[in-house]
Formats: sequence, structure tokens, C-alpha cells
Amino acid sequence: MAVPVRDAIIAGNWKMNYGPRRAAEFTYEIISELGMLVNRYPYVLSILCPPAISLMAVREVLDAHLFRRVELGAQNMYFEEQGAFTGEIAPSMVRELCSTVILGHSERRTYFGETDGAVNRKVLAAFRHSLRPIVCVGEHLDQYEAGSTEAVIRSQVTQSVAGIDAEDAPNLVIAYEPIWAIGTGKAATAEGAGKVISLIRQLYGEMYGGKAARELRILYGGSVTSANIGEFIAHPDIDGALVGGASLKPDFLEIVRNTIEVMQKQQ
Ligand code: PGA
Repeated sequence: MAVPVRDAIIAGNWKMNYGPRRAAEFTYEIISELGMLVNRYPYVLSILCPPAISLMAVREVLDAHLFRRVELGAQNMYFEEQGAFTGEIAPSMVRELCSTVILGHSERRTYFGETDGAVNRKVLAAFRHSLRPIVCVGEHLDQYEAGSTEAVIRSQVTQSVAGIDAEDAPNLVIAYEPIWAIGTGKAATAEGAGKVISLIRQLYGEMYGGKAARELRILYGGSVTSANIGEFIAHPDIDGALVGGASLKPDFLEIVRNTIEVMQKQQ
């Protein structure tokens, strides 16, 4: 079996769904099949991202099964190390349970006022704590319709992922999530998403050099289901998906299965 240039990531962003009890129950429902799938085909990494209060409950289920390629991620964190920041979670706290943290999701940017500057501080804090950041970027519908996608993405990428150390740069993950495609059932086409994702890779190369750009994993997000994941995975520049709604259902397993199928065909 040939080794792909970049392994794929299928991350489930549960958003504000599933408290500790239901989160543990759902993880039990999918873990054996999920674990076996990614064990059999180790070039797909699956990451479950429950709400912060449910992380421990899901961690316990994962620890009871020990599937190497099923990891845990948080949906957000603060960049300060500790102290008087009521309601926030520090990077070291996330690191106790997780390998990964989603940063700058469009819902955080829209509802909680997160700026590219704040996202950037979080990215640097994540690397200081050996966490893998998944940084989200994406344009609004009006920006898409006005043809300003490229300018929006250029500005988000250059600001959100600035100042990363050379040795950390290949470990970043970017998720391109056009906001008009999130939760709408109207996914982008693989061709359209692929074009933006190729631009992101090019920008990253300008910032951190060719090697980091080749190793950077870029995911697509926005109404991904088991019915459309195959097209995205088949695109040479798309390295997986950040899945919202469909990650709350057993369809998540089907998404992972279809990802594996397409990747195996590519080899
Ligand atoms: P969706 O969400 O799959 O429900 O569209 C994706 C996301 O917001 O990460």
C-alpha cells in the first residue's frame, strides 16, 4: 500500500450538542466500528470534537478502547495560560484531554466577535502546548456573490496563521468553510472548494515555504455528508472534512468509510 502525501482528517464538530451523558453514549455507539475502520486503513485520522463539558466523558470512552487513530478535539480555547478569565478554558487544560483544537470557527467569529488577531494568538498558544490547531476560514454569502472570496480568504489566512515557528508550520490544519454552505444543505462543489483550497496552499507556501505547504492539511467544511464526501476527497488538494450536522449521526461512520474507499482507489 503506497503512502499518501498527506493523510486525511475527518473531524466531527458537534457544536453545542450532546452533554456528557449523551456524548458518552453516542461515542459508545460508533467507537468500535470507527476504530476498526481507521485501524484497518491508517491514513485517515478521525477526530471527535464534543462541547468542552463533554470532553472528559468522551475521553473515558476513547481510553477504554484505545484506537490510535480516533482522537479528541476541543471546539475552542483561550490563549492565556491561566487566571481570571471566567468561563474560558486554557490551552494546558485542553492538552490534558485532547490532541487538537478547532480555532476561529465562523460561528465563533460571527456570534462571539473573534477576530483574526485573537485566532492568531490562539494558534500560537496551541503550538506552545503541542496541540494541533484546525483553523477555520471562509467567506459570507454576500462576499461570495460579490466575487470577493479570494480577498477574504487571503486576509483571513495571512492574519490568522501568522508567526508560526518553522518546525510547527507543517502541523497546522486549515478548514475552508464557506459560511453559506454551513448547515444549509448547500455544499460547495468540489471544484469550487478545491480552487479556494489550492489558493490557501499557495498562500501558505509564500508564508512558510514549499515543504510546509505540501504537508499542510486543508479540509473542506459545509454540509458534508456521506453522499458528497467522495467528491471532496477525490480532489488532490482537499485532505478531509470538518463535519457538523452529519457528525452527530451514524452517517459519520459512512463518511469515514467513503473517505477510505476513495483514498484506496487513488493508490
Ligand atoms: P455542517 O457544519 O456540516 O453542519 O454544515 C460544518 C461546520 O460548521 O464545521
